[in-house]
Amino acid sequence: MEAPAAPHNPAETELIVHSPEQMRDLGRRLAKLLRAGDLVMLSGELGAGKTTLTRGLGEGLGVRGAVTSPTFVIARVHPSLGDGPPLLHVDAYRLGGGLDEMEDLDLDVSLPESVVVVEWGEGRLEELTEDRLHVTIHRAVGDTTDEVRHVTLTGVGERWTAVDLGSLSA
Ligand SMILES: Nc1ncnc2c1ncn2[C@@H]1O[C@H](COP(=O)(O)OP(=O)(O)O)[C@@H](O)[C@H]1O
Ligand SMILES: [Mg+2]
Repeated sequence: MEAPAAPHNPAETELIVHSPEQMRDLGRRLAKLLRAGDLVMLSGELGAGKTTLTRGLGEGLGVRGAVTSPTFVIARVHPSLGDGPPLLHVDAYRLGGGLDEMEDLDLDVSLPESVVVVEWGEGRLEELTEDRLHVTIHRAVGDTTDEVRHVTLTGVGERWTAVDLGSLSA
């Protein structure tokens, strides 16, 4: 008798990223899986690579303007240069409060026609939509070059059940 197949959750995948260039490339490839209405939540400590990944997302989506770590601006819209959705990049790092300040951004209004990518959004906007992609970036412990990152992508909700996140590791 054959052993049962190992439980496989298609909505979750883990990758190892070896450099900022690879992180950007991951963003470019992930962008191909995204469409208007998608919420991507990025977590990981300061310097993990969230903005670097978002830069690649912006390139992959073909949007205008370089994605940066804003000093004052909390949310920035990057319109598409083609006919794709705009990228709405939110960096909530400087948002002290909870949902109230987040609500001022009216993300619920923008989300249906945008790809929304949020750094530091945990606990603040899960109620925005049932479907979201969580991307967690960890620095590898004991990495001497300080460039290795472990990236976990977890799709939550119906939207992500049919998406093959495993294709990103190719
Ligand atoms: N594998 C990697 N992926 C992403 N960034 C990396 C990596 N290795 C080194 N870095 C560096 O770490 C920093 C990440 O910064 P940033 O993307 O702004 O992080 P965050 O937005 O998570 O605070 C950059 O200076 C980048 O060059
Ligand atoms: Mg950042």
